[in-house]
Amino acid sequence: MAIIINAPLDMHLHLRDTEMLNIVAPLSSHTFSGAIIMPNLVPPVSTKEELLAYKNRIHQACRSDIFTPYMTLFFKPTYTKDFLESIKDELTAIKLYPAGITTNSEGGVDGFSVEELAPTLNAMSELDIPLCVHGETNGFVMDREAEFVSIYEMLASNFPKLTIIMEHITTKESVEALDKFENLYATITLHHLLITLDDVAGGMLQPHLFCKPIAKRPEDREALRKVALSGHPKVMFGSDSAPHPQHAKEACGCAAGVFTAPIALQVLTELFMENSTLDKLEDFVSNNAQNIYKNITVPKKTIHLEKKPFIVPDKYGTVVPMYAGETLAYSITNIES
Ligand code: NCD
Ligand code: ZN
Repeated sequence: MAIIINAPLDMHLHLRDTEMLNIVAPLSSHTFSGAIIMPNLVPPVSTKEELLAYKNRIHQACRSDIFTPYMTLFFKPTYTKDFLESIKDELTAIKLYPAGITTNSEGGVDGFSVEELAPTLNAMSELDIPLCVHGETNGFVMDREAEFVSIYEMLASNFPKLTIIMEHITTKESVEALDKFENLYATITLHHLLITLDDVAGGMLQPHLFCKPIAKRPEDREALRKVALSGHPKVMFGSDSAPHPQHAKEACGCAAGVFTAPIALQVLTELFMENSTLDKLEDFVSNNAQNIYKNITVPKKTIHLEKKPFIVPDKYGTVVPMYAGETLAYSITNIES
């Protein structure tokens, strides 16, 4: 019997640029209706011209697929209301990175003072532009996200009309924060639903599972599973699929990022199926995002999956996917758009 997913959305995706863009973009545009495209290029996407040109390159890389790239800008506290108004129709969200916290985030925010952030965040509130946040401090690696919760609370209480998305949450503390503030939402990745730190570093080191934020403890994974599998209306799927060439992962100084775009829907289906929560899968991968992001239109696309082995390729171009060479239980058998 086929399992059907309507209009899947990936609310946190790295497509990169040039050759890498051409390798990875079709792997998402084929199976997803749309995705929030992260702006951490070099240099980061921070002007209207850069955003429009990048959107164009994405469309070219996706060829004839029906797929909407929801574009983002790299947050700067100097964006004015006039500037944001001029770009609003092209823009779905703005992504805030603490300076230096992850790949290509050197130009991010250095200190989180309300006074410094207020001009841009007030303009975003007034224009209904959501704020996506990479929520980690530069403390001890396992505590970075939990330590950031107080910054989320500061943002949520000082900017109550701003939609704030805690990106790729990995801890039970972040899950708890969700219900404390009306304007806090979250994305959850596939890999953080599946792995803990043990899978990354408990045996031989697994560079293809190394990412920011690092996978945490079993109880954190449990908390994430609970909200994702129940279709909690404030959480949505965001793969954080973050491709790096094989030589940058299998290296001394491994780049952070797990590449999951080509396996995401198959593995999510298996996870929801195993937990007898298949009826919540469409909430997690589509409906919740449409309710949270009121500023997106979603093209029609229907994905059919069946219980049929799918052998994950060892590589897509220069990139090694999660579960490379392994056999998944579910395959995509048909796509209608
Ligand atoms: C992302 C990347 O490579 O761009 N890496 C990652 O480990 N997730 C950046 C990010 O989202 O932190
Ligand atoms: Zn990311």
